[in-house]
Amino acid sequence: MRSQSLDAEGVKADFPILKKKVHGKRLVYLDNAATTQKPRSVVDAVSGYYTKHNANPHRGVHQLSIEATEVFDESRRKVMRFINAARFEEVVFTSGATDSLNLVRYGWGSKHIKGDDLIVLTIMEHHSNIVPWQLLAAEKGARIEFVGITKEGELDEGRFEELMAESPALVAFTHCSNVLGTINDAKKLCSSAKRAGATTVVDAAQSVPHMKTDVQDIDCDFLAFSGHKMLAPMGIGIVYGRREKLAEAQPYRSGGDMIKEVHTSGATWNDLPYKFEAGTQNVEGAVGLGAAIDYLEALGMDRVRQHEEDLLDYALQKLEGAPGITVYGPKRPSDGAGVISFNLGDIHPHDIASILDEEGVAVRSGHHCAQPLIEELGITAATRASFYVYNSREDVDELMNALAKARRIFCI
Ligand code: ALA
Repeated sequence: MRSQSLDAEGVKADFPILKKKVHGKRLVYLDNAATTQKPRSVVDAVSGYYTKHNANPHRGVHQLSIEATEVFDESRRKVMRFINAARFEEVVFTSGATDSLNLVRYGWGSKHIKGDDLIVLTIMEHHSNIVPWQLLAAEKGARIEFVGITKEGELDEGRFEELMAESPALVAFTHCSNVLGTINDAKKLCSSAKRAGATTVVDAAQSVPHMKTDVQDIDCDFLAFSGHKMLAPMGIGIVYGRREKLAEAQPYRSGGDMIKEVHTSGATWNDLPYKFEAGTQNVEGAVGLGAAIDYLEALGMDRVRQHEEDLLDYALQKLEGAPGITVYGPKRPSDGAGVISFNLGDIHPHDIASILDEEGVAVRSGHHCAQPLIEELGITAATRASFYVYNSREDVDELMNALAKARRIFCI
């Protein structure tokens, strides 16, 4: 048996909610692609912010406002180091990955996409990386093409290259599918798109929490992710933008703090990144994100990835050996993240998820906010188990026990 790279039980002890019983059973939380649980250190950092430093940053000259500005800036510096952004001003706080992608759509897209431009997406996208571009295309008269997948659930790179030959204006793709777990080669795709003259947008909501991310190495123009999928609070996210791209984008939201001067005749914009941060910001969320990054860095992102590969390997072996199970997506752990979508016979995934819930096992079921992909797979829904740092092989065993119960109930 391969040894797990993290001490998942030790990690689990840092997460108070994981001591909770659900329907009298130990909670086995396998819905991490939807949102992750929070370690005590993140909860304490948020409460420490309110008990020690709370004030409105950038607004006052009083001591607390200065402290709030310092902790807000410090969190931005932590994000900058975590994703290896070259500059402080390239890291913009948003409310989450969806908000980040909308910022790119309104801030950059509305100004730069024209009628007849081509926007290239993939069929693996989450709705948050489809709908903003559909709205933009409708507004401008632009065209959208989707790159499909192979039967192994990998991106059809041949089709991607064919579309690059049509000189797209924008290429937006997920780094890691929230349904299949497929990890796309973001660096290679960005390099091809750049050669084709396109602006690149990477939806990294499912990758930044799980693997070392280097935006300079990927060489993307924009990259979006959420805090809540990486141990931080909900309501905080990031859009990384290459400085030139952020500079040529227009403000997305307008109001206080995003301006340099306002007169009755008009306004001028604040410097980056503040030009995109209108109104009072989610400082507690930023502080929580900083604490989450500290926690993940202490574990080591390489170990986080290795741990998930080990779990994926173990879970794939168990699931593929189980009667009636169809697994979607890559079958090699090195090609996928800790996300497995499957069906059991023709039982509806909501029924499966309800039976699993009775056993304390939390999974997601449905279309996973990726309906075009679900349609491409020829199904209407799937059950999804997704892993994180506190999951162990025992959790996978509990999943399998609960699935055996579902099989008994439905006589499969
Ligand atoms: N994007 C989240 C998921 O995949 C909500 O479940």
